[in-house]
Amino acid sequence: MKQTSETSFEPDWLNLREPADHRARDPKLLASAASCVQDGSIVLDLGSGTGSTARAFVQAGFGKMRWRFFDNDATLLRIASDRHPEAECVVGNLGDVKNLPLGDVGLITASALFDLMPESWINALILRAAEAGIPIYTALNYDGQMSWTPNDERDCVVTRAFNWHQTNDKGLGPALGPLSGSRFAELSEIVGYTVASAQSPWRLGPQETQLHDAVLDGIAQAAHEAGEKHALDWGIDRRGAVAVAETLGTIGHTDHLSVPR
Ligand SMILES: C[S@@+](CC[C@H](N)C(=O)[O-])C[C@H]1O[C@@H](n2cnc3c(N)ncnc32)[C@H](O)[C@@H]1O
Repeated sequence: MKQTSETSFEPDWLNLREPADHRARDPKLLASAASCVQDGSIVLDLGSGTGSTARAFVQAGFGKMRWRFFDNDATLLRIASDRHPEAECVVGNLGDVKNLPLGDVGLITASALFDLMPESWINALILRAAEAGIPIYTALNYDGQMSWTPNDERDCVVTRAFNWHQTNDKGLGPALGPLSGSRFAELSEIVGYTVASAQSPWRLGPQETQLHDAVLDGIAQAAHEAGEKHALDWGIDRRGAVAVAETLGTIGHTDHLSVPR
């Protein structure tokens, strides 16, 4: 599935979504996450891609942090290294939770990642981080809520099919998809973290037509693959320069910060 909003890792797609991601992040939670980092400790960004999380912290005024980027895509990490020459880059598989490089880490971050992951992985990560007393900040987890103005009577069935598609296995087991943020919060509390959560929806208006069009394409394709018979026609009707420019879209996400009690 190419260019589906939550599963394509092409650099062009990550670049396209970055401005909307940065606008969507909850600024208070980001500042609280930054305040967890002691001087000299490292921020480990899981599934870092090209380093968008680090840039979000820089844009918010937290430019002095030391970053360790972790991803299994060497091409994305090369771009991350070009853009952040001072950061460490580690190529590895997130599935190997026991061997995540936690040395000197004072904060674990992730963005647009946990909804791709199975519950077993999220739980294993929380247990590993809790053992080491490390806070976790996870941003931009798709939460299953999408709406458009003006609405279309097929929005609801397409959203339902897309949400089901989001639970497909992305390599480590069936993904939590829309439930990832809430399950992360529940599982963190169980092992003794205090969790703060916030909404971080994309709001796609006339300034975001290219992203909005690509998102609609991905949703329509995924919902079609999930068996929704109206999905492709819905995509045709919703897409195109004129239709997109006249539509406001909201794609729900949540951010969470877990801090050891
Ligand atoms: C949706 S992208 C998000 C990238 C970045 N965090 C951002 O917000 O732009 C998900 C990232 O997770 C990485 N990823 C997915 N599965 C992985 C795995 N099993 N091991 C390591 N990285 C993985 C992908 O290569 C990709 O960079």
